[in-house]
This record gives sequence, C-alpha cells and structure tokens, in this order.
Amino acid sequence: MEHYLINGGKTLEGEVVIAGAKNAALGILAAAVMTDDECIIENVPFVSDTRTLLKAIENIGASVRLLDRHTVSICGKGIVGDESLSVDDEYIRRIRASYYLIGALLGKYKYANVALPGGCDIGSRPIDLHIKGFETLGASVDIVNGGKIVARAKSLNGAHIYLDTVSVGATINIMMAAVLAEGKTTIENAAKEPHIVDVANFLNSMGANIKGAGTDVIRIRGVERLHGTEYTIIPDQIEAGTFMALAVATRGNILIKNVIPKHLESISSKLMEMGAKVIEYDDSVRVMADGKLKATHIKTLPYPGFPTDMQAQIAAALALAEGTSVVTESIFENRFRYVSELIKMGAKIKVEGNTAIITGVSGFHGAKVAASDLRAGAALVIAALAAEGESTIEDIKYIKRGYEDFDEKIRAIGGDMSYIPDKENGDQNNNKSDNK
Ligand code: UD1
Repeated sequence: MEHYLINGGKTLEGEVVIAGAKNAALGILAAAVMTDDECIIENVPFVSDTRTLLKAIENIGASVRLLDRHTVSICGKGIVGDESLSVDDEYIRRIRASYYLIGALLGKYKYANVALPGGCDIGSRPIDLHIKGFETLGASVDIVNGGKIVARAKSLNGAHIYLDTVSVGATINIMMAAVLAEGKTTIENAAKEPHIVDVANFLNSMGANIKGAGTDVIRIRGVERLHGTEYTIIPDQIEAGTFMALAVATRGNILIKNVIPKHLESISSKLMEMGAKVIEYDDSVRVMADGKLKATHIKTLPYPGFPTDMQAQIAAALALAEGTSVVTESIFENRFRYVSELIKMGAKIKVEGNTAIITGVSGFHGAKVAASDLRAGAALVIAALAAEGESTIEDIKYIKRGYEDFDEKIRAIGGDMSYIPDKENGDQNNNKSDNK
C-alpha cells in the first residue's frame, strides 16, 4: 500500500509556498459551469479533490483544459441541461464538494441530478440546510434511489433564507443557485469563511450581484446570465496553518509564503499562547519555536473562530506542550479519530465526548499509523516529523485530497519524508502523474 515514510526528530527550517485554497477551488470550479463562456481560473491547487471535481465537470459535457499545473480553462457550453443530465461517477461520490454542482446546475438549468456527497468521515454531515434553501427558492428536491439528489424548478425566485446552523457548504450552494434566481435573496446567519468571500468574488466577476459575503447577511440580486471571467483563487488557510503547526511541533523556523495573514489570526494567536513567535509580513508569516511549548485551550468555531480543519494539527503540537490542554470540537462530532494513532506515538490524550484532554509529553517516538481523514492525516505527518525514529503513515489517499506536493515541500525545509508508492501500481497513485 502506498505510504509516507518519515524519519523524525529534525528541526524544520526554510521556506514553503502555499497553494491555492482547496475549499475555495471546489466552489469556484463548480460555479464556472454556470456560464456558457470560458472561465480561466488560476492558482487551482493540484490535489486529488480538485482533479475529481474537474473529471465530473468534464463528464457532464463541459470542456476542461489544464493550461498549466495550476491554471484551468472551463467552458460549460457543451453541457446539455435537460433531464439526461446526471452527475454520477465512481469518483464524485467520494468528494463532499460534489454538492456544489447541485446549486450551480439548479441555478443555470433549473435542474440538477447529482450523486449524494461523500468526503471525509468526520461526522454525520447532513445537507438538510442546502435542501431547505433550494426549496425556499422554489425548487422541489427529491432523494431518489441509489442516493441521488434531484432538484428541479420551473423558476427560481429570490427569498429570505435563515440558516439554522452556520454552514459553509449551504451558504455557498444557496448563493450559487440564488445568483440566477429572479429577484432578491437574503441569506441570514451565513458562514463567513474566506472561501465564501472568494466564491462570491468569483461569481461577481462573472456578472453576479452579491453583497455582504464575509458577513453574516449575504444579499443577492438575481441576474439573467453570467459571463466568462479570469480569476485567481486565494491561498489555502488550512495548508498554511498546517505548516505553522509543523514549525511549532518541530521547534522549527519556517517562512510560509503566499498567505493572507488575516485569515490565519486565530491560528497565530493560539500558537503564540503556546510560546511560539509569529511574525506577519504582507503575504507571508514566519513561525518560530524553540524551547518549551505551553499548554492552551482551544474550541473550534465557524470563522473567524479557530477552524475545525486545524483542530487535529494543533492537537499534535499541544501533545508536546508542557501542561494540560483542552480541545473542544464544536463543528463535527467525529474529529478525534487521529487520537488513537497519536497515542501509538506516545501522546497522552483522553477523549470525552467532544473534548480531548491532552497531557503534554516531552517527545514522541516513531510508529506505524494510518490517516482516518485529511486533517487527521496531516496531524500524523506533523507528529511523525516531531517524533524520534521512523514512522510509516498509511491511508495517505486522504492526505492527497488536500495537500499539494506535501512530501516535496517538507523535504525542502529539511524533513526526512518519502512517498513510497504501492508496489503493484508503481507511481500511478501519486497525484503528480494524474494530469487532470
Ligand atoms: C466545509 C469544508 C470543511 C470544513 C467545514 C467547516 C468544504 C468543501 N469543506 O464543509 O473542510 O471542515 O466546512 O468549516 O468547504 N450542517 C447541517 N446541515 C447542513 C449542512 C451542515 O446540520 O445542511 C452542520 C454540519 O453537520 C456541521 C456544521 O453544520 O456540524 C458545519 O458544516 P458545514 O459548514 O456545512 O461543513 P461543510 O460545508 O461540509
């Protein structure tokens, strides 16, 4: 089985360049099919989740061309928007963001038929708020045999929608459908994550009229059609945060380039509470830690709170801090599955409900561990790089969903980390050989 082999215990130092935001890219790539004109999108991260979504977009008739490794041209003209339109292939069910095609296709064609979303198993992850939003806009939504969502509408009409729970996916999905609805839509209690703003900016560059993205009330005035655009995706907040936590856990000194420091504030402040030094520049941050780390408490919250997608990585660093830290997960219920693996490396962590109580240890030792989801996998890489001795990390397909060239970037800052391909399949599972 393909895996990462890591020889830990080295201080990581140097520079790393952050890729485009995966979660913004997933919304933007889906939204690009909402016009019959060409959209050119730059800074698309080369990770398996974006490749999978591009394949699904191509399978429904859009033209998808990779202009270079991070620039993609999408033209939705070839999609036949009638009842024959169906998004379902063996890949699309694996990614959560397949649901963005419901909002995009429903907005454009008033019809969508999309396989139910998969994604990392980090909790029940319902999509009731998405469905409620589409229904409020005038669509009928059915879940049909085989786990597909069929949404259709004679016309979509602007409406007032209140989200009972702050949901990134529902905010983006409803926003996409509402852009081509008749009249005004208001989304209240909207999510405020940086990628919501990025998707809204992308749609506005296509001619949409969205105001208030990044606040908890988004106002959309429907337009008749969208046009082509050229757009550059924002840097990935979570990839940047992962390298920040890595610098702290390995007592390193890493300059993390191509970031928006404002998006990293909740992470920076927690790392500083732990005793790290974080220096912000215009579009980079330097994170340094030497000596002892201090325990602290963390609760995950919607943006601008501490991101759930950084919970596992910072817990790996906290497990090496002096004292007791309490980490509370308030977004997803199944996000502590990395704990049993960290314990194999010597961590002392007890999970009670949605809380992890972490008693810091002075060091980890290498072990054979497996990733249970994307961010859990990143936490294990951090722990293995901080540990003395050799570690093997299995199930790295999860890690490849969201980290571009992870092993290469880590080697460039002095980490001893190799990608070992599956013996039978050679290198073909490595996302680098997959050029779409
Ligand atoms: C997105 C991100 C994911 C991140 C999460 C929270 C993408 C592709 N994924 O996931 O990386 O961890 O935001 O920042 O952008 N909920 C409902 N009903 C719904 C929708 C959500 O009850 O219809 C609940 C969820 O169970 C969860 C909470 O709302 O407890 C937040 O989920 P949401 O923000 O929707 O997460 P995703 O969009 O799936």
